[in-house]
Amino acid sequence: MDAKHRIDIATPLLAWYDRHRRDLPWRAAAGDTPDAYRVWLSEVMLQQTTVATVRPRFTEWTRRWPTFADLAAAEEADVMAAWAGLGYYARARNLLAAARAIAADHGGRLPDTEAALRTLPGFGDYTAAAVAAIAFGRRAVVVDANVERVVARLFAIDMPLPAARRPIRAAADTITPEARAGDFAQAMMDLGSAICTPRRPRCLLCPLGDRCAAQATGTPDGFPVKKPRAARPHRHGTIFWLQRDDAVLLMRRPDKGLLGGMRALPTGPWADVPPLLTGAPAAVDWRFLDEQVAHGFTHFTIDLRIAVARTHVASNDGEWWPLARLDDAGLPTVFAKAAVVARRRA
Ligand code: ADE
Repeated sequence: MDAKHRIDIATPLLAWYDRHRRDLPWRAAAGDTPDAYRVWLSEVMLQQTTVATVRPRFTEWTRRWPTFADLAAAEEADVMAAWAGLGYYARARNLLAAARAIAADHGGRLPDTEAALRTLPGFGDYTAAAVAAIAFGRRAVVVDANVERVVARLFAIDMPLPAARRPIRAAADTITPEARAGDFAQAMMDLGSAICTPRRPRCLLCPLGDRCAAQATGTPDGFPVKKPRAARPHRHGTIFWLQRDDAVLLMRRPDKGLLGGMRALPTGPWADVPPLLTGAPAAVDWRFLDEQVAHGFTHFTIDLRIAVARTHVASNDGEWWPLARLDDAGLPTVFAKAAVVARRRA
């Protein structure tokens, strides 16, 4: 695509952004230099998590750990607990690892190019491009789900996802300007969130309406084309609620695997059929509750039975966590759900 076309998208889009940009806690005021730590943290939090959820969590987090150095000095267990409920917990472990690498190897500052950023833990294509553009004004092609949708529509790319990712990226490259690359990326995101929505896009308000190939087809919400999703498999498991006086037994999950490194209630294996008492943390008189917990993970759904028991014996594994402070344990959502049920009935 020629330089003229490039200007055709960026100019009206940036003019729209200057009037309608969202006021978000990680964004610098127009013309100010962004804080790279805040940009990085927000981009990591916003992967897979909505702006509405991230907003208060970002504010809490930056109050507690306002700089790279503060985060680098944090305890891993505190960082993991502070991430609770945001999902995809490897992101939190990588944040801490990257903060420590920045403190140890980069003089306490984030490197300012896409290539150097990629060498840090947790920096994939998206994060490296987003941080290079938004924090450092580097030209980078930033493609998240919103941008993917906007570009698929602008160019009416009719190949289904995920195969369409490559042509979408190539098309995004052709419209990315040299100047204001960070604003351009965020303008695409804001447009995707406010105007070019997945369903019923508000094309009449779109600053790019007159150059959108999908709008011209009359069915812009048909883009991007999606392949029908395969059904997620369904699993079963048991969560164990073992109470001793006013405390409950919590474990740390192994670092590798789902919810890795998180504090959790003990579980047995997650299997195709209910595993009942397999993997119980103690040989005591377990009682199953009638109420179950249903939860959806990205790649499977699960029904969890809850087995409860009381004991007087201290176990060597895990921590006896005071019930009065259970909200501070940082339990992932699925265990927090089970705890609400078990606590009432144990
Ligand atoms: N989604 C991901 N990053 C974002 C940003 N910087 N602004 C708005 N939405 C986003």
